[in-house]
Amino acid sequence: LFGLATPLSAETWPSKPITILVPSAAGGPTDTVARLIAESMTKTLGQTVIVENQGGAGGTIGMARIARTPADGYTLAIWHIAHATAPALYDGLKYNPVTDFDHIGRITDVPMTIVSKAGLPPTSIAALIDWMKANKDSASFGHAGVGSAAHLCALLFMSELKLQLAQVAYRGTGPAMNDLVGGQIDLLCDQTTNTTNHIKEGRIKGYAVTTKTRVSSLPELPTLDEGAMKGFEVSAWHAMWAPRGLPKEATDKLVPALQAALQDPKVIERFASLGTVPVPLAQATPEALRSQLAAEVAKWDTVIKAAGVKGN
Ligand code: MLT
Repeated sequence: LFGLATPLSAETWPSKPITILVPSAAGGPTDTVARLIAESMTKTLGQTVIVENQGGAGGTIGMARIARTPADGYTLAIWHIAHATAPALYDGLKYNPVTDFDHIGRITDVPMTIVSKAGLPPTSIAALIDWMKANKDSASFGHAGVGSAAHLCALLFMSELKLQLAQVAYRGTGPAMNDLVGGQIDLLCDQTTNTTNHIKEGRIKGYAVTTKTRVSSLPELPTLDEGAMKGFEVSAWHAMWAPRGLPKEATDKLVPALQAALQDPKVIERFASLGTVPVPLAQATPEALRSQLAAEVAKWDTVIKAAGVKGN
């Protein structure tokens, strides 16, 4: 037919909607990141990109599902630092985080905040630490399952204080935040994408941030490194993965679409209002993500084994 370049029957990728799996409950910080990226990629790819949630076991249930999903580019995942800590925490993990996935690119490194229910008496990070020591047998620390960013942060924070408060596990920090706002739990370490607005509107109290520099959207919060806990640093770096073995046609469109999302003015503006920024584009490549993930798996293996923590 008039020498068409490609046969009409050849379907170009993507020819149907794409799903981004978030391996934690709806309404959490990872959801916030994923929905902004999905909205931008929908425009770039010309197909609807939807977000689906599957929480549990610090994200390892969802990521195991991705590892056994056909690599057609229509099912992706957005997850974070928990993808690197899973091997050290979960014996018998059904996948290797580095070799059983295609790596699309890194997205954003979200700072974390030490927060409490609104009614807790302390009014500074130093006073909070004193309060935790005085109430170590009754206080409760929420998290999003062993291996979640919230759990890792609480683990590092409490081990610095040589404290072991009662921990309450949720399927993500969306539900954990509901209980913190409701006053059912006392403490949480969660990402600024989930805590910023609750702090500003007085539904919870913020005490410190876990990054080495203060967060623009919460300038009044000191860093732990400033004084209470010199050298403390953890952030929830997020990235996009896919089942291993994507067709080149899909990868060649997914990587630029993710990079376009990181340059999307709406994504940049929403990230900034929630205390975070997109990574530099040089870090948003398959090669950069793969090597960074491998380094993180090794780093956290040492830290977690030293802390003597297991997820199962
Ligand atoms: C989420 O709920 O988005 C994440 O599970 C938070 C976390 O890992 O702490």
